[in-house]
Amino acid sequence: MIKKYVFGQPVCTDAVVMNIPESGDAFSVMELTESDGVKLCCRMGERDVVYGLGEQVRGMNKRGFSYVSYATDDSIHTENKHSLYGAHNFLALARKSRETDSGEGGSFGIFVDDPGRVVFDVGETKHDQLVIQAGGDCVIYVIEGEDLKDIVRQFRRLIGRSYLPPKWAFGYQQSRWGYVCQEDVREVVRGHHGQGIPLEAVYLDIDYMENYKDFTVDGEKFPAFGDFVDEMKGQGVHLVPIIDAGVKIEKGYPVYEEGVQKGYFCKDEEEGDFVAAVWPGRVHFPDMLNPEARAWFGENYKFLTDQGIDGFWNDMNEPAIFYSEKNLEKVMDEVISLKDENLDIDSFFHMVEIVTGLSNNRKDYKSFYHNMNGEKVCHDKVHNLYGFNMTRAAAEAFEKLMPEKRTLLFSRSSYIGMHRYGGIWTGDNESWWSHILLSMQQMPALNMCGILYTGSDIGGFGSDTTEDLLMRWLEFAMFTPLMRNHAAMGTRRQEIYQFERIEDFRNLIRLRYGLLPYIYSEYMKAALSGGMYFRPIAFDYPEDAHADQVEDQLMIGESIMIAPVYVQNAKGRYVYLPEEMLMVRMRSLEDYASEAMDKGHHYVETDLNELVIFVKKNRVLPIAAPDRDVKTTADIEDAPIIWFGFIETAAEYVFYDDDGISRNPVPEEKWKTVTVRKEDLAC
Ligand code: GLC
Repeated sequence: MIKKYVFGQPVCTDAVVMNIPESGDAFSVMELTESDGVKLCCRMGERDVVYGLGEQVRGMNKRGFSYVSYATDDSIHTENKHSLYGAHNFLALARKSRETDSGEGGSFGIFVDDPGRVVFDVGETKHDQLVIQAGGDCVIYVIEGEDLKDIVRQFRRLIGRSYLPPKWAFGYQQSRWGYVCQEDVREVVRGHHGQGIPLEAVYLDIDYMENYKDFTVDGEKFPAFGDFVDEMKGQGVHLVPIIDAGVKIEKGYPVYEEGVQKGYFCKDEEEGDFVAAVWPGRVHFPDMLNPEARAWFGENYKFLTDQGIDGFWNDMNEPAIFYSEKNLEKVMDEVISLKDENLDIDSFFHMVEIVTGLSNNRKDYKSFYHNMNGEKVCHDKVHNLYGFNMTRAAAEAFEKLMPEKRTLLFSRSSYIGMHRYGGIWTGDNESWWSHILLSMQQMPALNMCGILYTGSDIGGFGSDTTEDLLMRWLEFAMFTPLMRNHAAMGTRRQEIYQFERIEDFRNLIRLRYGLLPYIYSEYMKAALSGGMYFRPIAFDYPEDAHADQVEDQLMIGESIMIAPVYVQNAKGRYVYLPEEMLMVRMRSLEDYASEAMDKGHHYVETDLNELVIFVKKNRVLPIAAPDRDVKTTADIEDAPIIWFGFIETAAEYVFYDDDGISRNPVPEEKWKTVTVRKEDLAC
């Protein structure tokens, strides 16, 4: 049951798609105060668990910290941070407490539809208090249901169907900030193919543009771009260019000229076009919240789709600001005034603070405006909608530009509702072991919010990776729908063919292609039915008192659980089995072994080159039969299916498949149910 409460005069965020009437009941699950915005408060019992909030730091159980929804370009994802790139204001409080220490009432989900700054204090200030502070103008949805899965399913119906990527978007993808010319890209393709490593896409980071101008290609480094796109396609490789939010201010640059002339950029306090700076220096921000401007920005992708491009990543769309023109002027004056001063403990650190404070400064976000259907709205109030609407601009344009096919599209910044238009990647992580765990913990929280097409930069974006880190990361990312190795400029080269254990890497990537029938089937079923592809194990075993303590294992789809190794030098790890399961240990699709294991705690040894999965009882999974020549997803299209499973006699599996490209998915009544008998199993 979903109840809707409206406070003040909220802007329309388009986060939800269901039109439900405002509830006449009093607000029940949390205590409400309306003096300073909307404040909600409730007591949490000792064992209650809070799941959700999407892209955030810390564990799956969000208790013990506070999280701020205010999309931020912060590349240091450490535990002390309160905001990352997205704003996902949905959480579910699971009441787990025994009589003696119980919080009040049953489990519930809550979605705070407020695109401005919202704070979720999940027991940081007071251990047993959940406090949510929103602005005065918002809509709040309260969802009660049978269990966590039911609460999430209802929420997902409310916010609409998740984005469906093309099947090729599930293949292995390689990226790096620093492939600066065609020859660099060719070398990457040769590097993979030369070693028999499948490769689906190579990304073009900002280096492909002419002076970081959106919808341009540097003709010297990428001459005859359309031909180059075709050349790559001929080898089975999609090129995926980046698009940034800011449009360079430059006379004669058509996107800039047209935006100014049509009044499509965000305005400053004096009604001029707001000036900020990002990669190209000074830019204007297209007003993504103005439907006309959004449509115009979307049409610009045509420049690249006309040349054969069918996938994009949208970046810097919090929007990231290096500095605003006005603030820079002030700070420069102040710094210059300090010249010849004796900079001491106060003045030196003050200077550092004002200089670092130039970037992503909230004062700047308060100083520009959108035109939302004729109404002037301060950016700060709707800050979290910007990346969502940039991605929506692209997706809506693709429907017109390429109506016959799905496209790959994901964004850095997002808000609830963007999942209908594209996926996200989790931004600038580091080559740290702890960031494998962070990524594992973010996945189910994102899935709760409908964001299913997601993954992290494999190997880590910042810092130098190492061979073992990259291999362990791949073993987890084997299951993330977006499987992309990406790294920052200046870091150690991180393509897998750069390392010694090529054979092991190749086996892992081929395993991904083997597992694709299962991954794709489970992804599509989750997207089409509002389910979660990744789940904390407590979602599947709500009665198990230990399951909600497990922060580093995940259920994936209907048949398997994973327990990746994410600790440096670890030769294995402790795994908790909430029921009897079949452990399958794979070095390749030809080399695997299985063993039934009892419910309970186990130490599972796992060599660096082994992938371990746990199959649930009475479940099976479809696998594409091994193919030494597989280069892309197209090569497994007609592959025979073999089955792994843990069954006594037979089990049924609902096997979703389609052509992987047309926009209309197979309707649920036509999904195939396959009966698999024990004697049919390969493992
Ligand atoms: C941002 C993105 C990163 C990209 C870089 C250069 O930091 O998050 O993925 O490589 O910009 O475009």
